[in-house]
Amino acid sequence: MHIAYLEENKERFLNELFELLRIPSISADSKFANDVRKTAEFVKTKMQQAGADKVVIEETTGYPIVYGEKIKDPSLPTILVYGHYDVQPSVPDELWTSPAFEPEVRNGKIYARGACDDKGQMYMHLKAFETMMQTNSLSCNVKFMIEGEEEVGSTNLSVYVKNNKEKLKADVVLISDTGMIANDTPSIDVGLRGLSYVEVELTGPNRDLHSGVYGGAVGNPINILCDMISSLHDENRHITIPGFYDKVNELSSDDRESLNKAPFDLENYKKDLNIDEVMGESGYTTLERTGIRPTLELNGIWGGYTGEGAKTVLPSKAYAKISMRLVPNQSSEEITRLFTDHFISIAPKSVKVKVTPHHGGEAVITPTDSIAFKAASKAMETTFGKAPIPTFGGGSIPIVALFEKELGLKTVLMGFGLDSDAIHSPDEHYGLFNFYKGIETIPYFYKYYAEMML
Ligand code: BES
Ligand code: MN
Ligand code: MN
Repeated sequence: MHIAYLEENKERFLNELFELLRIPSISADSKFANDVRKTAEFVKTKMQQAGADKVVIEETTGYPIVYGEKIKDPSLPTILVYGHYDVQPSVPDELWTSPAFEPEVRNGKIYARGACDDKGQMYMHLKAFETMMQTNSLSCNVKFMIEGEEEVGSTNLSVYVKNNKEKLKADVVLISDTGMIANDTPSIDVGLRGLSYVEVELTGPNRDLHSGVYGGAVGNPINILCDMISSLHDENRHITIPGFYDKVNELSSDDRESLNKAPFDLENYKKDLNIDEVMGESGYTTLERTGIRPTLELNGIWGGYTGEGAKTVLPSKAYAKISMRLVPNQSSEEITRLFTDHFISIAPKSVKVKVTPHHGGEAVITPTDSIAFKAASKAMETTFGKAPIPTFGGGSIPIVALFEKELGLKTVLMGFGLDSDAIHSPDEHYGLFNFYKGIETIPYFYKYYAEMML
């Protein structure tokens, strides 16, 4: 029985995850390039040891993809497991209680960058696979595709997927890279938002100026940037970019009602974040604002003097990084274009504007009436004692829309993280409960999926 094998090997599984977490595979920062590659090697070795065949490091023009498979019997259904071994930067490092790449368990939780997103969740799949191999209970074929560039937009994976349609043939994609409501309230995300990400640069005078000599007479790029940015929302916190909402699928009142039935406690939410009030688009609940509505958020803004003390300067330049989360039917490319045109059009003549697009991706809705969703639901019901609730995670995994477009495959987002796991933040963590629960649940998915498909 797979549960017994898991019990016996628990400690080793955790030690192996610790080894993986110790390698700082930060894809965004080229200083860590060697570590990112080392991580790919580690994943390759572990995939082989778990029993996969044809395990290879697929080189790309960026970081490699680790591929491996176990085709037990061509007549069985095939699951394509996707995950990522790269992580977000750990900065600001001084805010971590223990160093980001020195994993440690405190209060039943593994603290490390990537503990939840996505090394911990990805590794559950390798260990669940090992468990099924060792207990002779693998009931589906499986193909693993673990990439190292998710946190920077999966550009090279897109190319790989387009060029390897035959190799990646499967019946469904299974991903653990999202969250659930709570450890006693399992849920499965059925939606991911798209993303459009831009950087803007405003240039005023040709050099930094004395803010007394010139201030008040020359346009200050930081002041102007603030004006421009604040005009992007109106008093109802609707986005003012012309055409921004044109393609948005408005949900039916029935769909909105069922979305809002998911357990959610606004008081706890505020308490957890230490805020007195939430804020967002009027006419929508918090679950709607994060799940099914598009947004525009500043991710960073800088310019002028930010060092110690005061320096009187009217800066030449000001910058901001802006992300827009998109919902089904909005196109990332189109939104980037609408943003760019609008942003340039609202700039006063005293500044020049440059808009640089970064990576983007499309939103997805995953079906709840599919065999795969039913199998995932039954698997979670088996291990949690409760059927999972369909939810909308607000984050983005751009490659998921591409799996559908290029491979014709639907995805099941069987995630085991929690919103409170602090992914992308200092003190990211992942519950031991969640790690082991994932390893316990995944084999049931294989079992039920095979039963329901045959
Ligand atoms: N695993 C997350 C996405 C996620 C987290 C979805 C929680 C749903 C719930 C993924 O690693 C991620 O962080 N994606 C980025 C986008 C990417 C292009 C950098 C994001 O959502 O910001
Ligand atoms: Mn992730
Ligand atoms: Mn992430």
